[in-house]
Amino acid sequence: MSRRTISLNGIWSFSLDPYHRAVALDRHESPTARRGARADRCYPMDWQRIRVPGTWNMQREEWFHYEGNAIYELEFDFRSSLELREAFLHFEAVNYKANVWLNGEKLGTHLGGFTPFSFQVTDLLKRRNHLFVQVDNKERKDRCPSVGPDWFNYGGIVRDVSLELTPKERIVDHFIYWDGRQVCGRISMTGRKRRMQIRIGDLINEELPVVGGKTEFAIDAEPRPWSPQDPHLYSVEIQYGDDEVHDQIGLRTITTDGDRLLLNGEDIRLKGISVHGECADGGRTLGQADMLRIFELARELGCNFLRLAHYPHDRRMAQMADRYGILLWEEIPVYWKIDWTNSDTLADAEGQLAELIARDRNRASVGIWSVANETPEDADGRTEFLNKLIERAREDDPTRLVSLALFMAGENREFAVNDPIGENVDIIAINTYPLWYSPTQDIRYLKPTKYEKPHIITEWGAGAQAGLRGREPFTEDYQADVYRKLTEIIEPKDFIRGTSPWILADFRSMLRTNSVQKGQNLKGLVDITKEKKKLAFEVYKNWTFE
Ligand code: GCU
Repeated sequence: MSRRTISLNGIWSFSLDPYHRAVALDRHESPTARRGARADRCYPMDWQRIRVPGTWNMQREEWFHYEGNAIYELEFDFRSSLELREAFLHFEAVNYKANVWLNGEKLGTHLGGFTPFSFQVTDLLKRRNHLFVQVDNKERKDRCPSVGPDWFNYGGIVRDVSLELTPKERIVDHFIYWDGRQVCGRISMTGRKRRMQIRIGDLINEELPVVGGKTEFAIDAEPRPWSPQDPHLYSVEIQYGDDEVHDQIGLRTITTDGDRLLLNGEDIRLKGISVHGECADGGRTLGQADMLRIFELARELGCNFLRLAHYPHDRRMAQMADRYGILLWEEIPVYWKIDWTNSDTLADAEGQLAELIARDRNRASVGIWSVANETPEDADGRTEFLNKLIERAREDDPTRLVSLALFMAGENREFAVNDPIGENVDIIAINTYPLWYSPTQDIRYLKPTKYEKPHIITEWGAGAQAGLRGREPFTEDYQADVYRKLTEIIEPKDFIRGTSPWILADFRSMLRTNSVQKGQNLKGLVDITKEKKKLAFEVYKNWTFE
């Protein structure tokens, strides 16, 4: 009896709940409890139908700008035997806060719009079940992101929902990596079995002891290392009693040596592009084809690197990047102004970081964890807050590099980065917009900061309305000109070991509502449909950066 996944994706009942009446009226109790005598208090009066996964904003015009509370309901049959089994209710992502009930029992609450969470429901499942989810995507000062990020605040159950069945004695999680000399593993399990079996391709096939619910190993090996040129993945099989877990894992090292960035001990330069996790029709809910299109364009641009900004993308992105040989920068949405002195906000940010690392730490393509984007270095509590996140990232995963994107202000020839946080990151990452936000910034004078570390220019670029020609900002010609000028300046600066200009595709943002942008940030090299390429696409495609 191995594992089983039962998808709960599909058409659910849905209603906006702007006045939070549902829970006040105990609407989360099973529907049968609401019919009959007290039906007059039944709420809501007008259940709608909604696709799950999906953002409500993209499913009905009248829901497009809705931000707040909404309720979801699903009734489903469950007929599998739970003899010697555990059952978990699993959500891949709900933006932003989720309160979940099953058969009238409150399972719990989750904060964070982009990372997975589960609840054990073995003892609650019946033949006929009532699942009730209250979602709140209100932007708030104490959330991550806080109020007004430069992206669209899509709300809802935005990624898959499923029931995960496992043997009672099960493998809880695994973390397998290569440290340059040995293949190492940390596997945790529940149950009382004393032995487990692990096979990693033709490298390792061992029966190992389980002590205190854990197996740890470090075995000398010379694997075929994963790299963009040779994205080799090993089939991994872990057996523990009746439980079995399969994975495809690339083995590589990513380190720094002074201002050099090393992949498998060799100097590497990253030609990348920044990406939002958005598609024109589905908003925050991307399908396989939407993700494939991102990799297709990245490959056409000659990229070996993607900056998945500014929050955890769909887990399939890293699975695809593993296969296509694209290194990833993954980030949590600690973005611009955050409630730095609020311990609940720090716990929320740490929770999102821990969930991201637990989800993707077996993905060789993930090289860099980013704990923030453009945060004000002089804000009270900000550096302490970020240092705690950096510390947590290193604790949870000592095998990867940790960074964050800094905003490079300064005019004319002054590119100052004296940010104290630079001491604690592995890579100095800089966002700078010469010829756009800072027209007088002369990037020819960009020099290494005082930190002897690899530098990546994680953002630069310009906006252009697809199809608009001319000499002015927001024309394709102006954007192409900015790409020509900046690529020419960046390439010879050897201390710059990577770049990921802003951004692959235009994306929705309610900060961009002037007559040209009309609710979209137009700095994409392609338009929001990812079909229309702008002149700058060719410029960047033809640029050699290695
Ligand atoms: C900022 C920020 C992005 C934003 C971009 C822009 O630096 O990191 O999220 O979209 O610049 O202004 O277009």
